[in-house]
Order: sequence, then C-alpha cells, then structure tokens
Amino acid sequence: MSDAERTFVMVKPDGVQRGLIGDIVGRLEDKGLKMVGAKFMQIDEDLAHEHYGEHEDKPFFEGLVEFITSGPVFAMVWEGDDVTRQVRQMMGATDAQEAAPGTIRGDYGNDLGHNIIHGSDHEDPGANEREIALFFDEDELVDWEKDLSQWVY
Ligand code: TYD
Ligand code: MG
Repeated sequence: MSDAERTFVMVKPDGVQRGLIGDIVGRLEDKGLKMVGAKFMQIDEDLAHEHYGEHEDKPFFEGLVEFITSGPVFAMVWEGDDVTRQVRQMMGATDAQEAAPGTIRGDYGNDLGHNIIHGSDHEDPGANEREIALFFDEDELVDWEKDLSQWVY
C-alpha cells in the first residue's frame, strides 16, 4: 500500500438526494487529490453508531443516526499530501449556515445537521485510518499513479 496520507470522505444522504455527488467528486479531483476507493451504499444502524460513536452522549445523536441512515451515501477514500486537513478545509464549518462561501458546506448546505459532506477530523489523530477501515476492506482500495502524460499529446 502507498504510504501517502489517506482520508475518509462521504457525501451524506442530503448530498446524494440533491444530486451533488458529481460536483463534490469534481471539486476534490480539481484540487489534485487522488481517489483510491468509492462506493454507493446504505449505512445501517450499527455502522452509524460505530461511525458516530464519539457523539453517543450528545443530544443530537439520535437525529444524526436517523439522518445518516435515511438514504444512500457515497463513501470515498482520497489520498494526498496532508489530505485530511485539506479536505476539511474544502468542506468548511460544521454549521453550513456559518461555513464560508466557496466551501462545500458553505455553497450547498443550509443547516447544521444536514451539511452535505463528512470528512475525517484532522484534529483527531487516527480518525482517518479508523474510518477508512470501518467502511472499506483493504482490497477495495486501489493503488494507482496519476500519469498525466499518458493520454494527452
Ligand atoms: P461533528 O463531528 O462535530 O462535525 P463534523 O461533521 O464537522 O466533523 O458532528 C458530526 C455531525 O453531527 C455534524 O456533521 C452534523 C451533526 N451535528 C448536529 O446535528 N448538531 C450539532 O450540534 C453538531 C455539533 C453536529
Ligand atoms: Mg467530526
């Protein structure tokens, strides 16, 4: 496996319902990050509890689990230098009403709970690897090199 940094990113059910998968993938591609895994899937109750375990005692936990299991998500793994922090920066603040214009949440989201995208927390060491392992088997991740000289003249 490549030893470049990897992070877990997910288009949440509101982003999927609104047809934003393509835009979000496009933004991350345009930035020069590399996708190494992706799947369209439904999160069940157990996976939701495990993924959001850190928020178990928060008042919004039940609503969060209900939302994240309400419809399909698009789960991805992206690779790049300092990618976890870079993606968080592109996502913007948790509260989409406070997120800066130009960020994904700032441009597309309109409330705190329904904020379009998840990305591993760069301030929680190991969160990226833990979330990747929760959603993906090792053989679902692809090692590949970008070679821009190969298909253009
Ligand atoms: P959190 O990990 O704090 O935010 P982030 O997604 O930016 O890492 O919270 C997880 C999700 O929980 C968040 O994306 C939206 C939801 N949430 C609420 O519904 N209400 C809240 O008050 C908070 C803090 C989060
Ligand atoms: Mg978080």
